[in-house]
Amino acid sequence: MHKSILILGACGQIGTELTLALRERYGNQQVIASDIREGSAQLMASGPFEMLDATNYGALEDVVMHYEIEEVYLMAAMLSATAEKFPMRAWNLNMNSLFNVLNLAKDKKIGKVFWPSSIAVFGPNTPKENTPQHTIMEPSTVYGVSKQSGERWCDYYHKKFGVDVRSIRYPGLISWKTAPGGGTTDFAVDIYIQAIKEGKYSCFVSEETRLPMMYMDDAIRATLAIMDADAEQIRVRSSYNLAAMSFSPADMAASIREHIPGFSIDYEPDFRQAIADSWPSSIDDSEAQKDWGWSPEFDLEKTTREMLTNLK
Ligand SMILES: NC(=O)c1ccc[n+]([C@@H]2O[C@H](COP(=O)([O-])OP(=O)(O)OC[C@H]3O[C@@H](n4cnc5c(N)ncnc54)[C@H](O)[C@@H]3O)[C@@H](O)[C@H]2O)c1
Repeated sequence: MHKSILILGACGQIGTELTLALRERYGNQQVIASDIREGSAQLMASGPFEMLDATNYGALEDVVMHYEIEEVYLMAAMLSATAEKFPMRAWNLNMNSLFNVLNLAKDKKIGKVFWPSSIAVFGPNTPKENTPQHTIMEPSTVYGVSKQSGERWCDYYHKKFGVDVRSIRYPGLISWKTAPGGGTTDFAVDIYIQAIKEGKYSCFVSEETRLPMMYMDDAIRATLAIMDADAEQIRVRSSYNLAAMSFSPADMAASIREHIPGFSIDYEPDFRQAIADSWPSSIDDSEAQKDWGWSPEFDLEKTTREMLTNLK
């Protein structure tokens, strides 16, 4: 019999694909999806679902006890662009959901936790190119502040209480199954959708804005790999840098034109430009490579091919 797993925020961009991947591996009945809203038809049909607010400790504990949950993946959060509009809601959701899960692990009600951090933990004073694992971190967004605080708490709960929490600083994620949820890198998904629908795209960050990105399949593989690793391999208990590729909207447009020659793009930067400008352009993930064998498979060319084929 496989272990029981709970996913919080399972209906989002990452949660949907993570749930399907975990169900494929451990069996549909072993993986409990939960969220405050229903997800895609494919997700809802694939296994058990609980309507669950991750900030409600009592309700969360009930579900954990009922299903005898051993591992929790906490994917519920408010993302960077939305969090700038609702700072206190973002702080309360991002922090309280994390404390609830960490406290369940501290009290030995669950055994292992996955919690994602982000490149948003870095800020304008961080070295922009090949950003190291350990460096200046002065995030200038509400979201980044919540992720950096979360990282410190994960490290603290590991050192102080022996909690087995594992984390990755995801770059911007590109996927076609579920729409992105209000982050600064949403343009990297929208551009493909609009390229197919309209043959043109108006981008909310400038053409030279180069950011670290990753195709969803790589992100899911990394998530499963870090959770599979032996506990002693995981030497970083705040969160690991993770990288695959870095490119700008202009690079994306050129890559799309290889398939849709008439594709055109213009640029109308909005408030998200300042968020993007505060983040690194490329990431050094050598610690993830060394500690648990990380290596990406998707570059921009392969990502463009997958996105255009699947979205069509
Ligand atoms: N997508 C990215 O590019 C990216 C990059 C870096 C880090 N991350 C992190 O990965 C995690 C998942 O991101 P995502 O892109 O899937 O986000 P998303 O916005 O697509 O999904 C989040 C899900 O959480 C749910 N949710 C909101 N409040 C909830 C609550 N109180 N209780 C339970 N569920 C709730 C939402 O309904 C949604 O389905 C987040 O922690 C995010 O910060 C994402």
